[in-house]
Amino acid sequence: KPLVFSGVQPTGNLHLGNYLGAIRKFVALQANNDCIYCVVDMHALTAQLVHEDMPGQIRSITAAFLAAGIDPEKHIVFNQSAVPQHAELAWIFNCVARIGWMNRMTQFKDKAGKDREQASLGLYAYPSLMAADILVYRATHVPVGDDQKQHLELTRDIAMKFNMDYMEHIRRAGYGIDITVGDEPVHAYFPMVEPLIDGPAPRVMSLRDGTKKMSKSDASDLSRINLLDDEENISKKIRKAKTDPDGLPSEIAGLAGRPEADNLVGIYAALADKSKADVLAAFGGQQFSVFKPALVDLAVHVLSPITGEMRRLMADPGHIDTVLRDGSARARARAEVTMKQVRDIIGFIY
Ligand code: TYM
Repeated sequence: KPLVFSGVQPTGNLHLGNYLGAIRKFVALQANNDCIYCVVDMHALTAQLVHEDMPGQIRSITAAFLAAGIDPEKHIVFNQSAVPQHAELAWIFNCVARIGWMNRMTQFKDKAGKDREQASLGLYAYPSLMAADILVYRATHVPVGDDQKQHLELTRDIAMKFNMDYMEHIRRAGYGIDITVGDEPVHAYFPMVEPLIDGPAPRVMSLRDGTKKMSKSDASDLSRINLLDDEENISKKIRKAKTDPDGLPSEIAGLAGRPEADNLVGIYAALADKSKADVLAAFGGQQFSVFKPALVDLAVHVLSPITGEMRRLMADPGHIDTVLRDGSARARARAEVTMKQVRDIIGFIY
């Protein structure tokens, strides 16, 4: 079975972008894969060291995973800091990755802002920890939103350099796997991860500005639908969402140059498990005054059971902590298998 890994940071409210770009895909992938889903609490320190309620944030992401339909018994749900092997492998990857590679990361440039000298070293090394999250399980498939694409390319570069630099040691230790890179057969230790980004909403945009990503940090709450929003809020935000004066086109090509219309159609499609073409076949020629109420109904229909279940779960932190404790123990056992081999490949005496 393919091994799926993904993570979500415990910072701020989860929104529709996190749900459609990531969590909804996590749920669907459970049927045919072995899945590991992680609350990446160590990543949450990179931008802001001290958090108001770190345990509450970790529990809230865990609750969202469970409420959306992730099964923590068949699969693994845990928090990153409880499995120290992530940090151990990240250090090794810090020594594999080149500064030049890190300097190309657009997310670092965005998040560090103007005064880059004041950004934490952790923010700079962030993608190296992310590569370790995935590769400490030698996972092969990673469902994420479009904004994480560059980090996954870097993960492949790190894996490739490790495989090449330690090629002889990997062969001698007998831990290798045969993979193909391009058309070349390679004897490797770490697999080349495949990003799973496709779908109608790989990049959900702000409801106030179709050229900006929907994000936790946008000052305007009207720009996003939070997973904990109630029906009234969802309805208000969609009704107020920015649009242009034209109606909906009948074909995809008609969405070109209309980012807000494109975004709402993508959201509808993702929530309905349809393609954008299907949505336009149904709504083409209609005005937003017809489409928006239909989108409100659909969003409330899909999200409100999740919201309700999240609230119910969050009222019982003991249960969530049990899920995390059990998941962490299973994750640790698997991560330690990899780390024993990695220490051996490198030549550390342990
Ligand atoms: P994070 O916590 O910022 O976001 C969690 C997931 O939500 C996706 N996402 C979006 N998708 C579509 N439209 C949007 N507007 C939108 N905003 C966020 C993100 O792409 C992500 O999939 N670096 C990661 C966390 C991470 C990770 C990993 C992911 C750490 N280690 C290993 C995969 C594998 C992050 O900051 O996601």
